[in-house]
Amino acid sequence: MRIGVLTAGGDCPGLNAVIRSVVHRAVAGHGDEVIGFEDGFKGLLDRRYRKLDLDAVSGILARGGTVLGSSRLERARLSEACENTEELSRELALDALIPIGGEGTLTAARMLSDAGMPVVGVPKTIDNDISSTDRTFGFDTAVGVATEAIDRLKTTAESHQRVMVVEVMGRHAGWIALESGMAGGAHGICLPERRFEVDDLCKMVEERFARGKKFAVICVAEGAHPAEGSMPYEKGAIDQYGHERFAGIGNRLAAELERRLGKEARPVILGHVQRGGTPTAYDRVLATRFGWHAVEAAHRRDFGRMTALRGTDITMVPLAEAVTELKTVPEHRMDEAESVF
Ligand code: F6P
Repeated sequence: MRIGVLTAGGDCPGLNAVIRSVVHRAVAGHGDEVIGFEDGFKGLLDRRYRKLDLDAVSGILARGGTVLGSSRLERARLSEACENTEELSRELALDALIPIGGEGTLTAARMLSDAGMPVVGVPKTIDNDISSTDRTFGFDTAVGVATEAIDRLKTTAESHQRVMVVEVMGRHAGWIALESGMAGGAHGICLPERRFEVDDLCKMVEERFARGKKFAVICVAEGAHPAEGSMPYEKGAIDQYGHERFAGIGNRLAAELERRLGKEARPVILGHVQRGGTPTAYDRVLATRFGWHAVEAAHRRDFGRMTALRGTDITMVPLAEAVTELKTVPEHRMDEAESVF
């Protein structure tokens, strides 16, 4: 069998572990040939690829990023690819394509699959917002980075009697904010799923200071929104999900808290630090299992589906099911987090 693999969309710790696992299972396990497309779907369309053998993936398990490179593909080029899937598969002699990516990549994978390409998807995102899988690799690493940041910020906040506002990634789903906020013991967590009241945050800070705890750390997802009228508000841009994107929430919330409380507040935007560096053991294991199962699915000709974690088992789910809606934080998870502020 000749299997193509590519990584597309934003990078994520664990991508190299999947690539390595695909190559080991396919080449050593089945005697397949594996080719890796460079820079995501662009490499597929431009026929830029290289052969991946066991040597090519040696030593990459613990490396962050992706050795294949990644990119986002414009819609027009994707449609062009969908019109030429037969020609592409024939020319590249592809028996299976394994795209590894988030919601955008899996949507593209679904379109290619519908157009006749033999596709097995592998989900990835630090945001953990892909439905149909309990977890995506990269999330555990990102939560670890954000948790460590909260721990570190507490000591400097306490020394200066400040309020720290830590902005973490998560445009539509607040999983990173929820879990790093809980693990780091943040005193407030703001998620895209529930509008927050600035008054409630001020009250929390004042109560802490009154109790002698002269600092506070608030963990805010980049997609969190203040309740209407709760702080000076500019309309944000509407994204492809119809959600309003309120840019720069960390900076703006810190400024607003400082103004209202008369206490020093500092924003800390973690940004891409959360996506960089070595994956945790959990992410390496999940990524390796996904790679193994993707190759097995290709051999069963189980196309148009993606690997997914359900409980502790890896299963295959239709790509169509995976990309219909994002997995957001349910109410009960927010209630649990609030109980330990
Ligand atoms: O999808 C993962 C993600 O990390 C989001 O949480 C974040 O908003 C986005 O990627 C940032 O993407 P870019 O690398 O294009 O700035």
